[in-house]
Amino acid sequence: MNNFEHLVSQFQSVFETNTYPQLFFAPGRINLIGEHTDYNGGHVFPASISYGTYALAGKREDKKLRLYSVNFPTDAFIEFDIRDLSQRSHDWTDYPKGVLLFLQKAGYSINHGIDLLFYGNIPNGAGLSSSASIEIVTGVMAKALYDLDIEKLELVKIGQKVENDFIGVNSGIMDQFAVGMGKENHAILLNCETLEFSYSPFQLQDYTLIIIDTNKQRTLAGSKYNERRHECESALVDLQKDMSIQFLCELSPQLFEKYEHLITNSINKKRAKHVIYENARTQIALEKLQQYDLIGFGQLMNESHQSLRDDYEVSCLELDTIVEEAWNIQGVIGARMTGAGFGGCALALVANEQVNNFKQKIHHTYTEKIGYEPTFYTPTIGDGAKEINDVTPQTSNERL
Ligand code: GLA
Repeated sequence: MNNFEHLVSQFQSVFETNTYPQLFFAPGRINLIGEHTDYNGGHVFPASISYGTYALAGKREDKKLRLYSVNFPTDAFIEFDIRDLSQRSHDWTDYPKGVLLFLQKAGYSINHGIDLLFYGNIPNGAGLSSSASIEIVTGVMAKALYDLDIEKLELVKIGQKVENDFIGVNSGIMDQFAVGMGKENHAILLNCETLEFSYSPFQLQDYTLIIIDTNKQRTLAGSKYNERRHECESALVDLQKDMSIQFLCELSPQLFEKYEHLITNSINKKRAKHVIYENARTQIALEKLQQYDLIGFGQLMNESHQSLRDDYEVSCLELDTIVEEAWNIQGVIGARMTGAGFGGCALALVANEQVNNFKQKIHHTYTEKIGYEPTFYTPTIGDGAKEINDVTPQTSNERL
């Protein structure tokens, strides 16, 4: 999206102002491997992508928070009072409002009005973290416009708090972390318990990373996400009868096999098995990448999908149709669902010369079986959330 000037004009016309806004961007994310491990004290391996959310912001002298989204166009902006943000609206405005509210709760001075226009090019509800993206872009915007002395990591934690305590989704830290801390051409191996992390170069060599959107709409809140969390907690409580652990991911697969009999409910046992093996896979995946062994990395992606499908049961017909067809296509070295599941997107690593063939085959099989089309994206791995400074105004409008 290069046409910032168009968004600036839209900002000025929606808010009837000459103010030249400041521009911010936060990416979406993919998770290469390590699914449903973040809230179990485990590792994840996400990367921020070139698709994301842009925020254009102008300071106001009064107390009005005026919001507008190009993606959910309305006749006029939506207005709130910056001193009274605690009511939920049950629409997209809850994300920016929630971030400003939780910044206030954390003691930061959010004390003047703002005009804020959003434009996102991540498909909503596709499991690419459009919600974390709008949260974190609001966070970096607030840091700049309110001149806050706040670290990026703190904004990441506030984003998660908004999701947990304002929106009501009990998600882990992965999405906000990846969106906030991403790095061009790198994936992030993050220990979700300690928040220690390292960047790993993500060199695709002769392969292309393709995102395939099922276009099956689902929201995290409406999904069985919170139910899975409860199942993990129950499994942990059973294990704690004989073991002094705080998180499922403290167990290696070997230890799990020794103690799994403690988990009385067979469903909960399967959930714990996925989490513990997935956490182990994530760490092996890092080694594979460091050894430039993309084939080995791809195999781990395949195993991850099987485990999410059979043990964690968060895949669905749409995702399985894409992934299982992908496994049969020449030049595919790995494919899996990414994100929470129940719809959303799959990822595939495909040899460059097979990309067109891959898209045709997946499109054909999916459309025939599911009845509507998938969408393909070929992202690059970009930086985490930031202000975009190189937007030179075309006119001599004042810049805040
Ligand atoms: C969603 C959540 C994350 C993580 C993934 C599953 O994206 O927001 O915290 O739990 O699902 O890995």
